Amino acid sequence: MSRVLSGTRPTGKLHLGHLLGALENYKKLQGQDAFFMIADLHALTTEYEHKTTIAQNVMEIVIDYLASGLEPDKCTMFVQSEVLEHANLALLFSMITPISWLERNPTYKDQINELRGKDLHTHGFLGYPVLQAADIAIYKAEKVPVGEDQLPHLELTREIIRRFHHLYEKDVFPEPVAVLTQVPKVLGLDGRKMSKSYKNGIYLADSAEEVTKKIKTQMVTDPARKRREDKGDPEKCPVFSYHKLFNKERVDGVADECRNALRGCVDCKMEMCGKLNQFLDPIRERRQSWMKKPKEIREILDQGAAKARSVARQTLTEASQAMGLLP
Ligand code: TRP
Ligand code: SF4
Repeated sequence: MSRVLSGTRPTGKLHLGHLLGALENYKKLQGQDAFFMIADLHALTTEYEHKTTIAQNVMEIVIDYLASGLEPDKCTMFVQSEVLEHANLALLFSMITPISWLERNPTYKDQINELRGKDLHTHGFLGYPVLQAADIAIYKAEKVPVGEDQLPHLELTREIIRRFHHLYEKDVFPEPVAVLTQVPKVLGLDGRKMSKSYKNGIYLADSAEEVTKKIKTQMVTDPARKRREDKGDPEKCPVFSYHKLFNKERVDGVADECRNALRGCVDCKMEMCGKLNQFLDPIRERRQSWMKKPKEIREILDQGAAKARSVARQTLTEASQAMGLLP
């Protein structure tokens, strides 16, 4: 059974994009030897000025994990900063990681450009992938369920691991591979990729009423279809992309009626919304019930951290020995 590790940065509540992109993947892998981490240190790399919200967001993410069907008996859930070995291995890795590898990382360049309002010219932000490499290597994880956007980080992880093995002539870590989900990127209400920063998300924490309202008032349809009599092109419509995900048995009919102007967009949205809410209802129920159990959640995280720590400590010892810090 191969070891699995992945993580989510606690920068806010999880939305449909996270659910279909990452969490469905986690759920499939949770019976294996799986570790799912809340990457609060990684959140600090961009949110270092907003320290008050991180701990709160950690709780939201754990609740979202549990609500979407991760089970504490089947996988290990923990908070990154509670397992100090991550930071320690990251420091060791930082000794052997050329700065040029970090500077040419496409995610780094994109983020610096995208988040212009923030000063991201910090040591910590440049070192983001070094910490991520440590997250993975400290568990000797072989499989990393992530979205495509994380592929450059996985490549860097492998490069750091190879360099480690080359320098110290000892193979300590397996080379991890990404496990990508089949689901295409989930569109947001405005038709762009769903993302917190675009404010176009549907959240696991949204009530059925909130979701209905968002879809009714904010979700865009085929922009060329202005009047009810106009024929539509479902492939240009975000609402239709949701029919494909949540109303599979009716997609052909919906597409046909849209192309022939046999259905109005309002009805079309409402049909989709009903299905979407049906899909989200069990998640909402579990969310509500976990929200009433903060003590149990704390216990899950304590046990998770204890288990993670015992694995991590062993690996750190091996890495320290390989590097000559320990006999
Ligand atoms: N960088 C990842 C993201 O933004 C989060 C993350 C941190 C992660 N450490 C990880 C993912 C280790 C996989 C493995 O989504
Ligand atoms: Fe989109 Fe449905 Fe309107 Fe067609 S009928 S444009 S699929 S909302």
